[in-house]
Amino acid sequence: MSAALRCGLCVALDAPDLATAEAWARATAPHAALLKVGLELFSAEGGAAVRAIGRHAPVFLDLKLHDIPNTVAGAVRALTPLRPAWLTIHAAGGPQMIAAAREAAEKAGGADRIRLLAVTVLTSIDAATLAETGISGGPVQQVLRLGRLAMEAGADGLVCSPREVAPLRDALGEAPVLVVPGVRPAGSAADDQARVATPEEMAEAGADFIVVGRPITKAADPGAAAASIGAALRA
Ligand code: C5P
Repeated sequence: MSAALRCGLCVALDAPDLATAEAWARATAPHAALLKVGLELFSAEGGAAVRAIGRHAPVFLDLKLHDIPNTVAGAVRALTPLRPAWLTIHAAGGPQMIAAAREAAEKAGGADRIRLLAVTVLTSIDAATLAETGISGGPVQQVLRLGRLAMEAGADGLVCSPREVAPLRDALGEAPVLVVPGVRPAGSAADDQARVATPEEMAEAGADFIVVGRPITKAADPGAAAASIGAALRA
């Protein structure tokens, strides 16, 4: 199967309330492989948002957990009854935190457990910002370091920016599921994303899912915007 055929669209439902998110979910689910519930919607509506959005498509719950291993394990256990398909944790939390999350997911969910995605370096962070936080060497080097660490500790996949998809595939092969935000159809605004690419480029590079928010949710017709990105991924 070609890389292009297996790349799915994940729509980021970054809404302030469930009514707005559900309207976007209804419009975009026919064209999406996953629907993403993030911090804003989860903070406003809690688990009800995950259950409601899950009726439209599998949910990618993007909470980017980052805490001591015991606390993250407890959160994974508490989230399991909501049945998100995917959950994000920060790779920078370290191998013990990631291993604890994996163990909790297996114990609480069994074969049907939550799949864990480790966030490497946020797509809004560029080399200068990374250097300000004390990390030299640039985003690609840091993503490779964190990506390797996270997969060895038990993550099922990684979240990375468009620029790191090809280097990660070269370094880690086909095993990690690669999820890529910061994707923009040609001609649309980059917003606050620093490292962007088009859906077609990402399908070609070997991404499994692209995450697109504002270019769809701020469009006059979100359903049509999602359909057009879905068509670009299949082209
Ligand atoms: O609107 P936009 O397409 O920029 O939305 C991207 C989504 O992906 C947001 O929900 C953001 O929280 C998320 N994300 C990201 N960078 C990461 C991980 C998640 O932009 N590294």
